[in-house]
Amino acid sequence: MTEIREAPSMKAVARDLVVAVEAHELRKEFKVPDRKKGRFGRKTRVALDGVSFTLGRGETVAILGQNGSGKSTLVRLLSTLLLPDGGSAVIFGHDVVSDARAVRRLVNRVSVEASFFKKMSSAENLGYASRYYGMTAADTKDLIPEILERVGFPRDRRDEPMENLSRGMQQKVALARALLTSPVLLLLDEPTTGLDPRSKLEVQDFIREIRTNHDSTILLCTHDLAEAETLAERVGILDRGRLLALEPADDLKRRYGCGTLEEAFFSATGRAFEAEGDEDDEDDDREVFA
Ligand SMILES: Nc1ncnc2c1ncn2[C@@H]1O[C@H](COP(=O)(O)OP(=O)(O)OP(=O)(O)O)[C@@H](O)[C@H]1O
Ligand SMILES: [Mg+2]
Repeated sequence: MTEIREAPSMKAVARDLVVAVEAHELRKEFKVPDRKKGRFGRKTRVALDGVSFTLGRGETVAILGQNGSGKSTLVRLLSTLLLPDGGSAVIFGHDVVSDARAVRRLVNRVSVEASFFKKMSSAENLGYASRYYGMTAADTKDLIPEILERVGFPRDRRDEPMENLSRGMQQKVALARALLTSPVLLLLDEPTTGLDPRSKLEVQDFIREIRTNHDSTILLCTHDLAEAETLAERVGILDRGRLLALEPADDLKRRYGCGTLEEAFFSATGRAFEAEGDEDDEDDDREVFA
């Protein structure tokens, strides 16, 4: 009996021993115009302010944060699209700066600004991406229709140019593309924002399926508390570039003595979850004037 009870936890421990992402004091700043300082005035906006965390292989972690809290910046740093101004991030042993090429092979990012060849169809775009990953037409003949089916992409729209598709449909193609290669680290930046309720559920089911059937580690940035709670093993609260907590949703609620994740968010940040982020608050002491 004891052995049976111990087995799952041992498995979890073994899995967690493989570190997928190790971020240490990650920092990112942007130089932005400062009208108060005249025409050429500049100030520094801190988007990430010393973010540290570790993700275990196979783990799904959700990051919650208001607009402008730094979620997309974090995803861009981890996918080598941006260079950090400080700190480090290592993905399966590869540094995002010094070993960016290796990182790009392991990481797939899905975001609202996914780019496609807009005159080409969804199937053609996926075909193009698969060649980039070194797959042949024979490899993808059945795979592409199958993946499009699984993300709930309408069958009768597969041959239409991307530019004719709704944003939700394009989002599904972006997800399908990220799954062509069974990515090792999947960075999902608001994958369900703007989708209709049914598409949202389809995409969430699909994320669940990836968790179960692929050996992927998932970082999911979302504005949807229920999505975070149901899909992720741990939930992080990012506030003005600082990661205030990263733990299972139940632990978060317990820590802040709250019944819901929304209340826990409020207790942690002092701000309502759905309120606009005050990124250019004049009294924001994080802004270093240049
Ligand atoms: N290229 C850029 N130049 C200047 N400022 C930037 C740039 N990219 C991001 N920022 C700023 O960095 C901060 C964090 O932005 P980020 O896009 O990471 O937030 P977010 O949490 O993804 O927000 P949202 O929920 O609206 O997507 C914001 O203040 C944003 O205005
Ligand atoms: Mg964002």
